[in-house]
Amino acid sequence: MEPRIVVLTGAGVSADSGLATFRGGGGLWEQQRVEDVATPEAWARDPALVWRFYQRRRAALRDVEPNAAHHALARLERELAARGGALTLVSQNVDDLHQRAGSTVLAMHGQLARLRCEACGARVDDREHLDPARFVPCPRCAHPRLRPDVVWFGEMPLFLDEIEAAVRAAHVFLAAGTSGNVWPAAGYLALARAWSAETVVQALEPPANLDRADRFVGGHAAEALPRLVDEWLARWPA
Ligand code: OAD
Repeated sequence: MEPRIVVLTGAGVSADSGLATFRGGGGLWEQQRVEDVATPEAWARDPALVWRFYQRRRAALRDVEPNAAHHALARLERELAARGGALTLVSQNVDDLHQRAGSTVLAMHGQLARLRCEACGARVDDREHLDPARFVPCPRCAHPRLRPDVVWFGEMPLFLDEIEAAVRAAHVFLAAGTSGNVWPAAGYLALARAWSAETVVQALEPPANLDRADRFVGGHAAEALPRLVDEWLARWPA
């Protein structure tokens, strides 16, 4: 059998690199209300506040590196491909740590390292303009301010058809470092279960959408994910 594995990651996977999660003690949504900074309405009402919030997070990317969890998933992609199988890595994370570790990622909530023009639709890779007090104009149409190319609440996540097809076809589905609060990502665990995948959940504490049929693996992603990857690669030897 050619193994097909789908992994959905959330903020917990980047926590071991030093990036804040959203919920729980010290989480981003404890310090800042979602409605103030992560909706299209907030951007229309107070773009300077929204821009400051995202510029800080964009700048923080310079100070972090992929951890052992990111590297393990990049290894899993390479090793499964060598066995004729496939890993589909889906991430809610807007940091670029999976990409920097060498993974191919369906970044369903967008990317901090990209900006987007609401006037002409241009998408721009930008890691240089990090001043929280200065907007970045569009290099194509000169619109005065690009927005972060991230999905805000009330907006449609990216790659939904592709993700759903991969989840339905998966032999194994892992949700790692995600609290199961944000849809549609939170629904993929139940979808994978309904389509008979073996379901594994990895996080510090059991998430909201955990079911008795799921195998829960507690602990830090940087320790737990390399072990899970070793286990799967031993199950499907080259
Ligand atoms: P949350 O902050 O909601 O949940 C983080 C999860 O990671 C929790 O289940 C923790 O137990 C777990 N966790 C924390 N540290 C960990 C570690 N070192 N190793 C393993 N697990 C750890 O983050 P998400 O579920 O990713 O969306 O949040 C989902 C979405 O909500 C985000 O993409 C963002 C946010 O609002 C948008 O901005 C659209």
